[in-house]
Amino acid sequence: MRKKLTISSIQKAKGQRPLVMITAYDALFAKLFEESADMILVGDSLNMSFAGKSDTLSATLQQMIYHTNAVCAGAPNSFVVCDMPFGTYITKEKALQNAIEVFQSTAADCVKIEGGREKADVIRYLTENGIAVCGHIGLLPQSVRSEGGYKVKGRSKEEKEALIEDAKAVAAAGAFCMVIEGTKADVAEAVAKAVTIPVIGIGAGNGVDGQVLVFSDMLGLFEEFTPKFVKKYMDGATLVKEAVALYAKEVGSREFPTEEYTY
Ligand code: KIV
Repeated sequence: MRKKLTISSIQKAKGQRPLVMITAYDALFAKLFEESADMILVGDSLNMSFAGKSDTLSATLQQMIYHTNAVCAGAPNSFVVCDMPFGTYITKEKALQNAIEVFQSTAADCVKIEGGREKADVIRYLTENGIAVCGHIGLLPQSVRSEGGYKVKGRSKEEKEALIEDAKAVAAAGAFCMVIEGTKADVAEAVAKAVTIPVIGIGAGNGVDGQVLVFSDMLGLFEEFTPKFVKKYMDGATLVKEAVALYAKEVGSREFPTEEYTY
């Protein structure tokens, strides 16, 4: 059985080996990922892939707590990151109250917060009060409506400088690691070099300190759209559909259940 990572072992991985993060939303999949992943992220992406919504904004704290509990139950030896959903950390006081609720109701090891310099105060307040924080900079899915879509970051010199400042502010505020999403690879690499904490990329190239993917994307289960950065490690949707179609056919023809499956 794999030893659970700690904040210190996650930080020590920087410069030594790339960290592996994957999302999970339930015990079933979390258990399957435990052996290979360093960290499991209960992302608010569950609002899209599991709740069928068009973005992450309507995910609630109670939903995140419910799914985080399931993941912690399925993968008790995994370092679990719980995403703070939209609107739950707009002030440092609100953030602390909500993060305490996450910590008291689940076994999550840290919370994740989207935002750079503008969220430094919130991150500092949480870390000063015993809540470990994973930052999230670059493309911020919770800003999709205000930004008018998902826009790749780091395309200009100004954006590069802003991202480096964001990363430094998030690290200085006490985050122990951060995610960088949807960012030009050379810029993400420069960001990772600018801070001493691990920077885990999603759609941010190979020059960072680790990778995270949404599991339903990388298993080919989510069919609505596939971002350029998603590698499908299996064609899950086809496999599932074929299996269920075969089951339906065998039920229809009474091929199933045979003696073998009968008491
Ligand atoms: O919600 C999520 O799954 C995330 C990843 C995209 C990093 O935040």
